[in-house]
Amino acid sequence: MSLDLTALSAADDTIRHVLAAAGMSPPAAPIDVVSHGKSGDLIALFGPVVVKLAPSVLSHNIVLLAQEIEAMRWLGDRVRAPAILWAGPCEAGYALVSETARGTPVSHVAEGQARAALIATIETLAALHSLPSADCPFDRTLAVRIPMAEAQVEAGLVDEDDFDAERAGWTAPQALAHARATAPKSEDLVLTHGDASLPNFIWSPGQPVTLLDLGRFGVADRYQDLAIFLRSAKRNHPHIDAPALLREHYPLAEIDERACEFYRLMDEFF
Ligand SMILES: Nc1ncnc2c1ncn2[C@@H]1O[C@H](COP(=O)(O)OP(=O)(O)O)[C@@H](O)[C@H]1O
Ligand SMILES: [Mg+2]
Repeated sequence: MSLDLTALSAADDTIRHVLAAAGMSPPAAPIDVVSHGKSGDLIALFGPVVVKLAPSVLSHNIVLLAQEIEAMRWLGDRVRAPAILWAGPCEAGYALVSETARGTPVSHVAEGQARAALIATIETLAALHSLPSADCPFDRTLAVRIPMAEAQVEAGLVDEDDFDAERAGWTAPQALAHARATAPKSEDLVLTHGDASLPNFIWSPGQPVTLLDLGRFGVADRYQDLAIFLRSAKRNHPHIDAPALLREHYPLAEIDERACEFYRLMDEFF
């Protein structure tokens, strides 16, 4: 990508363009460009406002951000998510301007608070998974996701260097063949976040968790979320027994390791 959106002056200008498109005044507070967004989107926080911009050079990100906005609108107050202040196209791409969720991403909470933050996240996932899903228009079942994975592989969009350690050295077609061979015969369908890694949950003590980054939200097997949550918890807070917390607080009699393995594998394609 030729445009370095994380270079501060470029980011500042870009944010000003987004705010102009939104009819909002430029920020009085300093702009804080978040570097741990993984997607390539520009995320900038200033006081109570967050701008998320999918740059025009990244068309896949624009599709994902548009889906995220649709999902947030559909969810409304069914879950705790930031309010949308403005969303739409602008000179630099496609942007979402939303309220800042107060708190810390669960990936970044202090070690002494990690257990409470993980429990709150588990409770939030359990509440999401128990909402009615019949009228949800976002289909993320395997009937949709496996063809999407195939399309990603065919388009050469799968980053084999980013595979989990257990698949290091695999090719994308090999991973796809393995996914087809190990796909579960049935799905336990619920409303899922779709990318339940810990940076996408904002927590502060005594408060419910806020959900962010809902571009992959939709109806899928509950292990879509549980698998990604457990992998992320192990990475970010390795000294905490997240599977035990999940069994106790979700709750689950036992964790289906094969389902975890399969949904982690599916995550490699997106
Ligand atoms: N509304 C918000 N309130 C607070 N922090 C936010 C908000 N939106 C984004 N962030 C911060 O920016 C990070 C990246 O945003 P996210 O929407 O997850 O982008 P990406 O798709 O790049 O992962 C989040 O992990 C969080 O730290
Ligand atoms: Mg994110």
